[in-house]
Amino acid sequence: MVVTLVCPLFLALLFATSAFAALQSRSPEAYLQNGNFEELPNPRFIKKTKLIGKYSLPKWEINGLVEYITGGPQSGGMFFPVTHGVHAVRLGNEASISQTIKVKPGQLYALILGASRTCAQDEVLRISVPPQTGDVPLQTLYSLDGDVIAWGFKATSNVAKVTLHNPGVQEDPTCGPLLDAIAIREFYPPMPTRANLVKNPSFEEGPFPIFNSTNGVLLPPQQQDRFSPLPGWIIESLKAVKFIDAKHFNVPFGLGAVELVAGRESAIAQIIRTETNKVYNITFSVGDAKNGCHGSMMVEAFAAKDTFKVPFKSVGKGKFVTVSFKFKAIAPRTRLTFYSSYYHTRTDDFGSLCGPVLDRVIVFPVA
Ligand SMILES: *[C@@H]1O[C@H](CO)[C@@H](O)[C@H](O)[C@H]1NC(C)=O
Ligand SMILES: *[C@@H]1O[C@H](CO)[C@@H](O)[C@H](O)[C@H]1NC(C)=O
Repeated sequence: MVVTLVCPLFLALLFATSAFAALQSRSPEAYLQNGNFEELPNPRFIKKTKLIGKYSLPKWEINGLVEYITGGPQSGGMFFPVTHGVHAVRLGNEASISQTIKVKPGQLYALILGASRTCAQDEVLRISVPPQTGDVPLQTLYSLDGDVIAWGFKATSNVAKVTLHNPGVQEDPTCGPLLDAIAIREFYPPMPTRANLVKNPSFEEGPFPIFNSTNGVLLPPQQQDRFSPLPGWIIESLKAVKFIDAKHFNVPFGLGAVELVAGRESAIAQIIRTETNKVYNITFSVGDAKNGCHGSMMVEAFAAKDTFKVPFKSVGKGKFVTVSFKFKAIAPRTRLTFYSSYYHTRTDDFGSLCGPVLDRVIVFPVA
């Protein structure tokens, strides 16, 4: 009796210790321990697909109905997309998985998750890293083979307990988010300079996916800029904005950019320090990611009382234009906002929203 009680605790400590070691010596981005769920559970702790017991999923603690899934067609006619490796977990009604990781107090991080909905239209993934918590709606508007999302948080101590929870209650108790891969990235946010008042102006600091994601990383809406998964920027819209990397997309400058994937519902913003009545020059680039997104595009930018419209005709070749304007600040802080005027879908996948790319935003006072 004593042994069975002590054993899970001992194992939990062991897992936690090895997680610390792995995260200590890592590059800015890393999988969580068994972050792609490819480490198989002991067959004794699994009944059909259902995991039995709090420590049945290696390196994780589970609660409630959690299934261990092999991607592809399922009994019952469903298809579960598993893009990162072969295995995934599904969180049933009110189920959760958690892992304690080592972090640096005060540091900004993003969790990068391969997550898709499985049955209901309105599945939600509740992510918590106390004291922060947030609900991320899962939609399959963006790609057929599952989406990758990023969620930002700021560490408040040297350990953080990451919990992924399905707050939903569906008629079928197994229905819920499918988690395919979970990684973390530590941020080193760039500061504004005299030559450019914009923080992280070229999107060089962002949630770069370590897994083989070719669809970009969705930045869910309404995340506060203090904890943004895209440091310095606010995802202001109702729908997600997509972070794209140079490895998988055509990006005008450097390693990262954003794709405005949901028309006027997909805006990003930043508040910069300005001097009232001073005139500023704003320069930025608009293009396409060479991802099958064609058509007449338009990016609208707002600064103080001014609106700038930038038309761009995409033929899907990864071209871009650089434009510049002047605006006069009317307050000590100025909000810069960017969105796409139109909706677009990919020519190779009509279910996938796409749009114009925004990169390298420069603002400086005109002498
Ligand atoms: C990513 O893709 C490469 C090449 O297709 C493959 O060798 C590698 O194993 C993949 N990595 C993961 C984590 O799936
Ligand atoms: C803004 O600055 C850039 C770089 O110095 C310059 O090329 C451009 O002409 C300026 N734009 C305006 C509207 O003054």
